[in-house]
Amino acid sequence: MDSIAVTGGAELRGEIPIAGAKNACLTLMPATLLSDQPLTLTNAPRLSDIRTMTTLLQSLGAEVQGLQGGQVLALSSHDLTSQHADYEIVRKMRASILVLGPLLARYGQAEVSLPGGCAIGARPVDLHLNALEAMGAELDLRDGYVHAKAPGGLKGAVVEFPFVSVGATENALMAATLAKGTTVLKNAAREPEIVDLAQCLRAMGAQIEGEGTETITVQGVTQLHGATHAVVTDRIELGTYMLAPAITGGEVELLGGRIALVQAFCEKLDAAGIAVEETARGLKVARKNGRIRAVDVVTEPFPGFPTDLQAQMMALLCTAEGTSVLEEKIFENRFMHAPELMRMGAQIEVHGGTATVTGVERLKGAPVMATDLRASVSLILAGLAAEGETLVSRVYHLDRGYERVEEKLRACGAKIERVAGE
Ligand code: UD1
Repeated sequence: MDSIAVTGGAELRGEIPIAGAKNACLTLMPATLLSDQPLTLTNAPRLSDIRTMTTLLQSLGAEVQGLQGGQVLALSSHDLTSQHADYEIVRKMRASILVLGPLLARYGQAEVSLPGGCAIGARPVDLHLNALEAMGAELDLRDGYVHAKAPGGLKGAVVEFPFVSVGATENALMAATLAKGTTVLKNAAREPEIVDLAQCLRAMGAQIEGEGTETITVQGVTQLHGATHAVVTDRIELGTYMLAPAITGGEVELLGGRIALVQAFCEKLDAAGIAVEETARGLKVARKNGRIRAVDVVTEPFPGFPTDLQAQMMALLCTAEGTSVLEEKIFENRFMHAPELMRMGAQIEVHGGTATVTGVERLKGAPVMATDLRASVSLILAGLAAEGETLVSRVYHLDRGYERVEEKLRACGAKIERVAGE
């Protein structure tokens, strides 16, 4: 297994291109299952999670071709051969559950293994299933699979989510496009990835209103057609690389970045003493004079502070002046990076869903282990600021979500290398 070696201390200067959003692409790809005509996605990120979704769609008989080095995905579900999403593929990635809604909507049946994914809490799929049931699906959970049927097709319904779920909103939204009648999704997720999905589905002929608000209304149509759609910028990759010059000092321009994608995060950066400026090409980020200031953070559904940037923000706050409190409201077990950061000299106390971070003057390099996707990149950020060498092992998590991380950081002057494992 590969590791990443980081030698801290270098200020970062330069520019970093931000890729298309992994989480948007993982929901746009299954949208191909809704139509027998081709769907082309441009600005796709080149990541192992995207390859896993490719394998899953191909196992159903869809064609998925990566063009231009994988930045363009040409998808077609013209000749689907199966509605069975197998455990061997699904277990690798939770987003696999997103094939359920589209398969059921177009074929009236699907068998999808219950998913695995990052080890950050229980992460059930009950909201996905309840929404599809409300639309007339008959579900049977047997042998680790969801066996779903909708013999007469799905029917429009009012679905009120008890709390916000990105994935459940996406599954229900896709299913609703081909359901008979009107579906109203209440307490829907408002993430930019949902807006991106709705825009793509609309380009395919779906009738959708209200995406980006709490209520999405879908008027079902009998079929969808082909479309070409550009994947929205990855706001989590954007936020992660915004933290690089914040943590090391220097100035970096994030190409393709926009404040609207990371508003709540920018407000916290400002409070911490980091300057963010929108430019014609993206966002320019620089550390203002002096030490980073402590700030409190509560993770929330969009437009709140994203849980997917909590670990990286914690890395920054480890060297802040004063004490910061980070409250994790989305996932119950998402502080696995804290003990690893403590190996580097950070002072963190975790009680349930709250972490209290008392800043230290400087972190010290140490061997650490990546426990999940966002945790691994937080350790790299900490390593950039630490004295000496940090060796981050188990970086396969990182490759699920960050394209060429070491190249992008090295181009700005970071001392970072991938060390090939056996
Ligand atoms: C998506 C993102 C993930 C991000 C998360 C929250 C993708 C591929 N992944 O994950 O990176 O961290 O949104 O912004 O887009 N829950 C249930 N029952 C359900 C569904 C969810 O209890 O049926 C719970 C989850 O355990 C979690 C919370 O709801 O505590 C929010 O999860 P959700 O928004 O569904 O996250 P994902 O869509 O899995």
